[in-house]
Amino acid sequence: MKEEKLKELLEDMTLKEKVNQMFQVSGSLYSEDSVLTGPMKENGFTEENLALAGSVIGVQDAAAMWKIQEKYIKQHPHGIPLLFMLDVINGYRTVFPIPLGQGAAFRPDLTRRCAEAAAREASASGIHVTFAPMADLVRDARWGRVMESTGEDPYLNGLFCQAMVRGFQGEDVGERGRLAACVKHFAAYGAPVAGRDYNTVELSEHTLREFYLPAYRKGIEAGAELVMTSFNTINGIPATGNKFLMRQVLRKEFGFDGVLISDWTAIEELIAHGYCEDRKDAAYKAVRAGVDIDMMSGIYPEFLVRLVEDGEVPLEMVDHAVWRILRLKNRLGLFENPFKDAGQAEEKKFFLCPEHRLLAREAAAKSFVLLKNEGVLPLHPEDKTVWIGPYLDTREMIGSWSFTGDKSAVSTIREVLPEYAVHTEGCQGCPILEPETDFRGLSDAGKHLFCQKEQEQLMQEAERYARSAETVVLFLGEHSMQSGEASSRTQPVVPEIQMELFRRISRINSNLVVVLFSGRPLEVREISRKAKAVLEVWLPGTEGARAILETLMGKRAPEGKLSMSFPWDVGQVPVYYNEDSTGRPDLEEAKEDRFRSRYLDAPNGALYPFGYGLTYTQFQISPVRLNGSVLRPGESLKAVVALENTGNCEGTETLQLYIRDVSASVVRPVKELRDFRKVTLRSGESKEVTFEIREEQLRFWRADGTFGSEKGRFQVFIGQDSGVRDYATFELL
Ligand code: GLC
Repeated sequence: MKEEKLKELLEDMTLKEKVNQMFQVSGSLYSEDSVLTGPMKENGFTEENLALAGSVIGVQDAAAMWKIQEKYIKQHPHGIPLLFMLDVINGYRTVFPIPLGQGAAFRPDLTRRCAEAAAREASASGIHVTFAPMADLVRDARWGRVMESTGEDPYLNGLFCQAMVRGFQGEDVGERGRLAACVKHFAAYGAPVAGRDYNTVELSEHTLREFYLPAYRKGIEAGAELVMTSFNTINGIPATGNKFLMRQVLRKEFGFDGVLISDWTAIEELIAHGYCEDRKDAAYKAVRAGVDIDMMSGIYPEFLVRLVEDGEVPLEMVDHAVWRILRLKNRLGLFENPFKDAGQAEEKKFFLCPEHRLLAREAAAKSFVLLKNEGVLPLHPEDKTVWIGPYLDTREMIGSWSFTGDKSAVSTIREVLPEYAVHTEGCQGCPILEPETDFRGLSDAGKHLFCQKEQEQLMQEAERYARSAETVVLFLGEHSMQSGEASSRTQPVVPEIQMELFRRISRINSNLVVVLFSGRPLEVREISRKAKAVLEVWLPGTEGARAILETLMGKRAPEGKLSMSFPWDVGQVPVYYNEDSTGRPDLEEAKEDRFRSRYLDAPNGALYPFGYGLTYTQFQISPVRLNGSVLRPGESLKAVVALENTGNCEGTETLQLYIRDVSASVVRPVKELRDFRKVTLRSGESKEVTFEIREEQLRFWRADGTFGSEKGRFQVFIGQDSGVRDYATFELL
């Protein structure tokens, strides 16, 4: 529809119609049998709310979408179509690795392709908007939603956020197979105090701008159509009612002109936060902060009409919000075709199609991080290997945000073993979780409740297998529902019952390979000490089993690099690579000096730092060389290293360029990732790799609140992970 006609439509709408466009309600309430009882009554929703709502959340198939949309348009006074929105985070029917794993692949373009595939499948089911990418920077492994982030680095997160937006939206969201993207959760939801979900966020404006905001901005610059507000307060003001954050930063500074939607009932939660007196006050503060859509609290339809009629909220504020919502529907082409490309034939064509499954397998394999390997991997098909662990027989490897995934399409490790190994004996050894685990909200899949006697039998069976084998592969990890929303853990570790299995096996057979499933970094010091090899596979998605076995058997070499640091001890958390130096850094040359910034009972550094990951070959890197010692604005410097594959097989290294601003008006991190390069070399091959350094890579939020670089000395590191020590120095003039 031409925008002039859209403007006429807006002018022709009643205030009540406009306000209800700003309301999103669960699609389940439109089902045939949903009467005005239960959830509707509880939420105070009326028939009129359903008759005029602007969008729905939660509809997951084309047939249901057609039924709702057809009926809705017929009865709407202006025939305005509904927007259908859903969380399509890491896949739809075909599920890709969790975003934390995709971040570890250091391949944004691979992630773009995964998002593209997810959009093809989801739009076939009639979905128009996905609540992704989640661009929250994360540093605290206790927080369950780190699984949904691409990690602890602002630069890397920005690349992935852009890639997902481009993958979902393409060049035109109105095209078939495209979804409008919604960057979330604005802002800094990933920094809750004590790693407890929904908790307070206290950040200096400097830290907020330097670390937490950049990735959201990259997603907006990539053209994201929506942004979602976060549940948390920032420095005392809830994001969903935060005028500074939404009108000053998001709209004015970032230039975001799309739709701003609240998180689930987040407007109503302004009351519980202690920020609003009552629902009317919440409506007032949310709309003045600029929130366009109220997700599921019902507060907008209940109070906005009266607030406008009483002159407390200017009509133009509602008009601007409704304009953005109508414009989004128009960009999606919904006025011409309210069903877009929803169809059961489309679903059949794209769901779990071979192309998507192969992509899922590639993405899974590229996400794996080899943390340790003392010559035991890769395995050989004829090796006398046994396969043990609670992840041997489960399909629960697609992550907590994959409710649209088809678990029946997920092969278990045991099912695919015969395709890769001669010896396929093995056993579960123990359940994923202790029977007394609080299953609040956990899926039933974890409920392998055995009595003590049965558990002992399982352990002894595993010990017998371990005695009989040359090599034991143990498939361990936290339950997939122990990460994700409302899944914070004070102890991010492998469940104790599995550690008992691990200890009993490691006492019998030291040739131990551990394949680790997790939605977050875990404290794995004991596993790392006792096992000969440790492969982190995250929650790898639909094709995880085959990707794991192809990696274990050497058909693929692992190349992932940690997107988030693994702590040496939980007591270090939050632990991250891009920290400040402090005035008493824990330097090698000062190790005798007690009065340094360090612990008495643990090292400062992570067990495995950001950017760390091994492969099946080894690489040698020369010291970094610069082609000059000064950098003038507008010019560039070249930083060069020679990389050599000194091992006996081909491999891919992810060379990382870090920069340190040695002194500035605000202290700068000891390292900041500024570029990286994937380099594949055959055994014995070597290659010079050159990075360009430009002044714009040196910019930061200066003490005077402006963004820019400052003259002075800089250190340049090029290495295999953020622990790299070798550097060269240049001066910015
Ligand atoms: C949830 C999440 C958000 C999600 C929304 C809709 O509470 O915080 O990420 O998009 O509700 O499901």
